[in-house]
Amino acid sequence: EFMNEISEFRVLESQIKDKLQLEHVIIVAGNSDNQPSVKQELGKACVQFLSTIITSEQTIAVTGGTSMAEVANQMKPIEHAASCTFVPARGGLGEQVENQANSICAQMAKKGKGNYRMLYVPDPLSEETYHSIIEEPAIKDILELIHDAKIVLHSIGDAFTMAKRRKASEQVLNELRRGNAVSEAFGYYLNEQGEVVYKVRTVGMQLEELEKAQYVVAVAGGTSKVKAIQSYFKQGKSNVLITDEAAAQELLKG
Ligand code: G3H
Repeated sequence: EFMNEISEFRVLESQIKDKLQLEHVIIVAGNSDNQPSVKQELGKACVQFLSTIITSEQTIAVTGGTSMAEVANQMKPIEHAASCTFVPARGGLGEQVENQANSICAQMAKKGKGNYRMLYVPDPLSEETYHSIIEEPAIKDILELIHDAKIVLHSIGDAFTMAKRRKASEQVLNELRRGNAVSEAFGYYLNEQGEVVYKVRTVGMQLEELEKAQYVVAVAGGTSKVKAIQSYFKQGKSNVLITDEAAAQELLKG
């Protein structure tokens, strides 16, 4: 059904695909910075895409944030999802509960009629806690699921918007300033060249591991995220981008 739908942005999609070297690009109308309904459309597009790629027994790792929360909101029962499991990609990053990956997973599973597993780790983790927590059998179990996820859904944020929303300490903000952080994804902060300048200490998926996944789907729209999207894709770890028209137009210029 999805594949038959002809996007009015086919040309733009293929231009972005070439520019960022991606496998799939999906563009929805408008600018999610100005209209909340556009974020809903991004969510719908992600759900639709997911329903075309999901197969039985899969693990889907998801991150937090408002874009992912909207994907969860738009989730519909997926035929294959009954045997699939939604897991948070990483431990808590300091978000409010509705924007946490754990909550989003639960919502996706409920609306998609799949299963979910939660990752209970305090955030932020101290060095000491980190080393002992990864040895906990219950944590080890879910970390294995996360590391084997073949589908990853995530968003990309502006570095300082994200750090402030997560109430990062002055020390962390200084580190981000020193590193000229531009983007954030999975709790990693990257500079304009796509180099990691700061990483939130928590368990779960590591940026390097994304290569093992079959589909890494970034959902990020709005012109306020253009620089962040460009920075993130310098790393080139995701192969699908779902964005909006306004961001796409700017991405082409950059
Ligand atoms: O993890 C958060 C994302 O990187 C961006 O969050 O969807 O609320 O803009 P957002």
